Amino acid sequence: MKIDKIFIACDHAGVELKVELKEAIKKLGHEVIDLGTNNKNSVDYPDYAHLLASKLEPNCYGVLICGTGIGISIAANRHENVRCAICHDEFTARLAREHNDANVIAFGARVIGAGVATAALETFLKTEFAGGRHERRVKKIELEADK
Ligand code: RB5
Repeated sequence: MKIDKIFIACDHAGVELKVELKEAIKKLGHEVIDLGTNNKNSVDYPDYAHLLASKLEPNCYGVLICGTGIGISIAANRHENVRCAICHDEFTARLAREHNDANVIAFGARVIGAGVATAALETFLKTEFAGGRHERRVKKIELEADK
């Protein structure tokens, strides 16, 4: 997929990792839109998940960071246009794209080092959805009641 833009957001726990990941995204030649937060003042991770979801367009990816990656990914996945995968390494990042067609990757800044997160993000951005049987499974994620 040709990537138009990459949106990135975090809570106070993810500020430092966000700086590193933004640099990595720029080095890959992508446009990166930083939605904050940008300091260590305590904020609520759902606000940043919802903000990023509201901006996410087709052909764009998102990157979300909180302390564990858990809260911010749960909040992001409440949105119909988001399939957010919390990833811990290149393996999970690759499969999040190949099998789950994730369009948002989440990291736990208190869990993962910047080097591993950067490698995982690069893998996420370059990996295509495999389709086939995974297409059917991804479609089944949506609940009938919500269709
Ligand atoms: C904030 O202290 C922390 O709860 C948050 O960053 C995240 O880990 C929640 O899932």
